[in-house]
Amino acid sequence: MSVTDTRLEAPTGVRAHTVGRAEDVPPGEGRAFVAGGVQVAVFRLRDGSLHATQAACPHAGGPLADGQTDPDVLVCPLHLYGFRWTDGSSTAGVPPVTRYPVREVDGLLVVET
Ligand code: FES
Repeated sequence: MSVTDTRLEAPTGVRAHTVGRAEDVPPGEGRAFVAGGVQVAVFRLRDGSLHATQAACPHAGGPLADGQTDPDVLVCPLHLYGFRWTDGSSTAGVPPVTRYPVREVDGLLVVET
């Protein structure tokens, strides 16, 4: 599901997309969605915080939504390279992962692309 909701405020040039329900992403897990035609992976860390990245790993296209997470990094399931939540940079020297703003609004997940 990807619905552009014009009632959601986003900075100029950025589109906010409702991609699913908050409960679609349980704590400690990630899920893949499409946000305005962009494939994204949304994660809820065990502390409840939300993060969103591109869905395909920048190294070789691994499915990042299936990766392992901890408070500092996302680990791709394919070759186990890590990407920092703070800036998307790699812990292994590969290109960075693109991050997207994500938030919960009235029980829905909203990703800006
Ligand atoms: S595809 Fe993700 S680390 Fe290689």
